[in-house]
Amino acid sequence: PTPAPTPSYGVNFASVAINSNDTVTVPAGYTVDVVLKAGDLVEPGTAFVNGTFPTSVSQTAAWAGGNHDGMEYFELSGTDANSGGLLAINFELPDYNILFSNGTYNAATATAEQKQIALSAVGIAVVEVAKGTDGKFAVKAGSRFNKRYSGNTNYRVGGPAAGALPSTIRGMLNNCSSGRTPWGTYLTCEETTNNYLDPTQPNNSYGWVVEIDPYQELAPATKRTAMGRFSHENVAYMTDANNRVAFYMGDDSTPGCIYKFIPDRAFNLNNRAANTDLLDYGTLYVARFNADGTGEWRAMVQGQNGLVAGAADPGNVSQSTTPPTPTPVNFNTQSDVLINAQSAARVAGGTVMDRPEWITVAPNKQSIFVTLTNNGSRRVTDAANPRVTNLHGHILKFRETGDSPLATRFTWEIFLQAGNPSLTEANLKGNISGDYFSSPDGIRIDPQGRLWVQTDHNLTGNAGTLNGAASNMTQAFGNNSMYYIDQATKQSKRFLVGPAGCEITGIAYTPDLKSFFINIQHPTGNWPVSGQQPRSSTIVVRRTDGQPVGN
Ligand code: FEO
Ligand code: CA
Ligand code: CA
Ligand code: CA
Repeated sequence: PTPAPTPSYGVNFASVAINSNDTVTVPAGYTVDVVLKAGDLVEPGTAFVNGTFPTSVSQTAAWAGGNHDGMEYFELSGTDANSGGLLAINFELPDYNILFSNGTYNAATATAEQKQIALSAVGIAVVEVAKGTDGKFAVKAGSRFNKRYSGNTNYRVGGPAAGALPSTIRGMLNNCSSGRTPWGTYLTCEETTNNYLDPTQPNNSYGWVVEIDPYQELAPATKRTAMGRFSHENVAYMTDANNRVAFYMGDDSTPGCIYKFIPDRAFNLNNRAANTDLLDYGTLYVARFNADGTGEWRAMVQGQNGLVAGAADPGNVSQSTTPPTPTPVNFNTQSDVLINAQSAARVAGGTVMDRPEWITVAPNKQSIFVTLTNNGSRRVTDAANPRVTNLHGHILKFRETGDSPLATRFTWEIFLQAGNPSLTEANLKGNISGDYFSSPDGIRIDPQGRLWVQTDHNLTGNAGTLNGAASNMTQAFGNNSMYYIDQATKQSKRFLVGPAGCEITGIAYTPDLKSFFINIQHPTGNWPVSGQQPRSSTIVVRRTDGQPVGN
């Protein structure tokens, strides 16, 4: 394809400075409200009280879970979508500090009740939110849409691997990031393939994309096995004029591949129910990035691309200059391919990447961005993963042939390499112009085409040599934060800095872009309620002059 015209949407906020303060810092003229904290009520019950700890899952089952991550905003018919709607929010992990008196959890020694309490704090919540007369969004208590789905809930299983799994699976967990379908369902992603909170649960049951209808009209929550089992990060879709769709997905593993799933059928926007099992029939592909800037999608179909009995999994070819010994693996059925998708992807020729986190598709369909958050263990580089000991990560951009979701080929480029230009090591400086960062994770292009990036660096982790001395991530980058990046100039501007200890994740917004919902995950200081236990929370950021964010 010809080079895509790169849109450039200005922003008029003044960059926030790097800091390690225990508060959410936003530009002048912006304001922050907390919408939903871990332990707040989603369903009727008794909310968390600071200084006390739950003794029964009957208490915590009604609460918002912990480690808020991916999130989507859904419109409600009959409601002005800019003033109210539904938020579906992922809970990646429990906020252990509000569940257990010593703040820790050990699956090997936990009682049955403690396991259930921990499992109640993962999964998702759907909450109705509405703007009050003070202009602040708040959860609408008692809404019939407010509902928890947790690690204790039973899930339906759909797709080709259903026959090889229990007919009902207890629990979903590590609900990391998320996505949505064109027909208005929520896709929540399990970023683990085992139930480490309760290892007695059967293996193979986790690592799926789970489809949940926030309106509770379609099928019950269903694990969609056709989309493959791996450490799912998020899902982003692209449609075409014929209502065909592709779903793009990353496997946040060290290393992991990039996938897309193309349902066999077109979706139907006039009849939601017609889409109920659309995600059970289709083809999963893995991306191969060639050194010449081209790429191809390899079908992960049993009998094709080496996916047969007696296949050889090449393993993690990036972690040592001495290639690992290939592992024999049998792909006798499509279930084998989907349940063992990470191995199948490598056999099929997928490129092992530096931990693919979120993917986002531009509204004009001419570019797709993926964050490769970091991979300190990379020793063998390739064109798409060009740095050894990639502590700070990079962002890759690709374009489908014909800007079609059905394409089997694409072109790609490295959009930017993260880092700090003051670091001594050449492989750690990066090439960001403007406000630099490490470990891009959340990424989303809003409907006006503005590109937003959120970071998840390990605050105490090694960052490289700064001013002649070893530095950690907080010294080199401050607290985790959120950026606007101009797609044409690649100029980066820091929009928000989180409180102590947190990661910044989750991006959702009202249609007028005047209210941005953002998640503050695992704060460790004194936020959001002074003098109380820190709690992961959903916040809403808006401008005090009532104009769209970033505009
Ligand atoms: Fe849960 Fe890959 O972040
Ligand atoms: Ca993430
Ligand atoms: Ca991350
Ligand atoms: Ca996390």
